[in-house]
Amino acid sequence: MLSPRPRGDPRVEVLIVFFEQTLVKIEIFRRQAAEFAVRKRAENQIHLFHAAPPAAHRQPLQSCFFFGHAFLPRLPASPRGPRREPHQLQECPMSFLSQTLARVKPSPTIAITNRARELAAEGRDIISLSAGEPDFDTPAHIREAAKAAIDAGHTRYTAVDGIPELKKAICAKFKRENGLDYTPAQVTVGTGGKQILYNALMATLNPGDEVIIPAPYWVSYPDMVLLAGGTPVAVETEMQNGYRLTPEQLEAAITDKTKWVILNSPSNPTGAGYTREHLQGLADVLLRHPDVWVLADDIYEHLVFDDFKFWTIAQVEPKLKDRVLTMNGVSKAYAMTGWRIGYGAAPEILIKAMSKLQSQSTSNPSSISQYAALAALEGPQDYIAESRAVFERRRNLVVAGLRDCPGITCPKPEGAFYVYPSIHHLIGKTSAGGTLIADDEAFATALLNETGVAVVFGAAFGLSPCFRISYATSDEILADACARIKGFCEGLK
Ligand SMILES: Cc1ncc(COP(=O)(O)O)c(C=O)c1O
Repeated sequence: MLSPRPRGDPRVEVLIVFFEQTLVKIEIFRRQAAEFAVRKRAENQIHLFHAAPPAAHRQPLQSCFFFGHAFLPRLPASPRGPRREPHQLQECPMSFLSQTLARVKPSPTIAITNRARELAAEGRDIISLSAGEPDFDTPAHIREAAKAAIDAGHTRYTAVDGIPELKKAICAKFKRENGLDYTPAQVTVGTGGKQILYNALMATLNPGDEVIIPAPYWVSYPDMVLLAGGTPVAVETEMQNGYRLTPEQLEAAITDKTKWVILNSPSNPTGAGYTREHLQGLADVLLRHPDVWVLADDIYEHLVFDDFKFWTIAQVEPKLKDRVLTMNGVSKAYAMTGWRIGYGAAPEILIKAMSKLQSQSTSNPSSISQYAALAALEGPQDYIAESRAVFERRRNLVVAGLRDCPGITCPKPEGAFYVYPSIHHLIGKTSAGGTLIADDEAFATALLNETGVAVVFGAAFGLSPCFRISYATSDEILADACARIKGFCEGLK
């Protein structure tokens, strides 16, 4: 630490304070300007595709920062506060960070979960319905398999894209559950489904390549595309179409720059599932566009309710299989989010490219987790049916609770553990606490502040005015949350 400056002539002291204050103001301004530039750049990288009349056109997607300024280093509260080492004043200047990073925004779902945690730590009674993971423990036989793997010495590097036993089990899973034939060479295992998606986009996108993403979408898709140097093209789906992309919308969104279309069924954030007929409609369009590949994100495959039957596009249209990456994982199906195992199957040329990328980044996913995933895929499957029944009951509870809230419209989703209600009728009202509900972000903020219920606003997923509830929590908590939301809506004027 620098030693305190000796006291001297008071006039000089005043001048020094003035200069220090000015320097701090310049620094604040410089950082705000830099942040503004970053945001503008990020906004202009994403295209929003409106298929609605009059003419199809693209617009920059609105930025969806929740707690803005999150990544600005904190400045000293007072220029006369504790003195800092010279290097601390310029901790991590913006120019040091890569331009690629400037294209992406931090995950809003994580930001909201953290905010809810902070409020809870302050003693507030918070119900967080923002996190996207099952609230169950990983089944015992899977945990035992992991312990056995450690004791058997499976604690070293493995083949970069997965141990052969696991790849074989994945091929068997695809055959058993999806009627798809893949060889181990057409399969890759990564650190979560997230890495599979990321590898695929990084391995294939060049600047200018477009990726069609039906909105609302999982928050990571557009940012992954941006990180990979591509251009996300969001196509807004409609509630009356069950939040599903229609063949007409897909046809209108495809250009000669389109490289991928991402399909996620059942969907995060809407829970919408594509039937065989829906997928066939999209496949018919894709058959006319032989250069477009499909990324099928099937991570919620097993969480489907009522008599909904899950289908994946390579199964529905075998003629497309040579340009489909079918992605899945154990996170949601077996309550294994922390184990980080996801997998994908695709033509060998793509799988090899993805493995090459993985070999120079993370190498193999955790050896122990791979043995746990092997036990998940090969062991008893009772957990899947049990968790599905619990989630179905919770979905019914939440949908009924939200349909009871004045001004909220809540569709009944086919799967996953999310609902995506619309607050269209609440826009323009004012909450009991005095907040104008100008948009869904204002709604989520007021709801959190006034009732302690944390939800994620729709703009984060690219479709407003809505919000997402994750119902991966107990019936009692869900009932309490619905009662609070109802009280909040009743208080709106
Ligand atoms: C739609 C979707 N795809 C992929 C993932 C990634 O799952 P993981 O990396 O845990 O396997 C998630 C996780 O929330 C998701 O919601």
